[in-house]
Amino acid sequence: MKKIAVVGSVNMDLTVKAQRHPNKGETVSGSDLQYIPGGKGANQAVAAARLGGDVTMFGCVGDDIFGEQLLKNLEENGVKTEHMLRIPHMSSGIALITVAESDNTIVVVPGANHSVTPDYLQKMQDKIMQADIILLQNEIPLESVELTVHLAEQAGKTVIYNPAPAVPVKREIIDKVTYLTPNEHETALLFPDENDLNTLLEKQNGSLIVTLGEKGAAAFCDGRVIQIPARISDVKDTTGAGDTFNGAFAYALANEYPIDRALRFANIAAGISAEHMGAQSGMPDYDTVEKELQ
Ligand code: RIB
Repeated sequence: MKKIAVVGSVNMDLTVKAQRHPNKGETVSGSDLQYIPGGKGANQAVAAARLGGDVTMFGCVGDDIFGEQLLKNLEENGVKTEHMLRIPHMSSGIALITVAESDNTIVVVPGANHSVTPDYLQKMQDKIMQADIILLQNEIPLESVELTVHLAEQAGKTVIYNPAPAVPVKREIIDKVTYLTPNEHETALLFPDENDLNTLLEKQNGSLIVTLGEKGAAAFCDGRVIQIPARISDVKDTTGAGDTFNGAFAYALANEYPIDRALRFANIAAGISAEHMGAQSGMPDYDTVEKELQ
């Protein structure tokens, strides 16, 4: 099995449920406050590790109580953390999440995730490049994402870049990654001149995989556009479903699945994860996904 390195964020998610999302200037009553480990990087690492992947996380947490809990959570899920830093006098990343009306809103305070600097990554370069597959997102400084993509491409690694949350990304970075995995909203931001998804997928020639929420995922594969329908799920919370998709996709590539099978596997994993509150709580193990895939 190939090795996976995740370079990304680690957050503590403060999650509440509400009947509906507040309007501007409005206060609504919530319930069920939970402190749940999250962060797009950590979520993707846990998703891949829970499936049985060989996963090493590169990132930073603070020297607060959350930092300790977040590292422990990664380790308990089988993610290697020996290259992660605890940053003195710094808070760990926090995400304030409201779950209402079958959807969520998130405010992220990056804290120690800002310390995943180009300098840290240069120091970690040899360790990161021991992996075969490198998985990235946008919750660390963009220049750090750019540097990692550049180094990984030079080293001939498979790079999966989940450009979330949405920010404009240089075309040269998009062209260097092996798989770019935006959702529809991120796709519109990254490819503003292209409004036909099928044409765009064909032009990107297999390097673009677009997640479509309840419509599943689409990609260009074996000379044609394929759309993998979403799993029918009893949705409780979609937080982390995209992260589960990316982590499971990385796991599938690490095990040399053909792309269409990898996408089906990732879609099922994401659907299962949405049946539980919290980003990581519902992430499935290998047997659960494989049984449905059969
Ligand atoms: O993708 C979901 C994640 O986004 C949450 O876990 C939260 O930490 C935010 O970063």
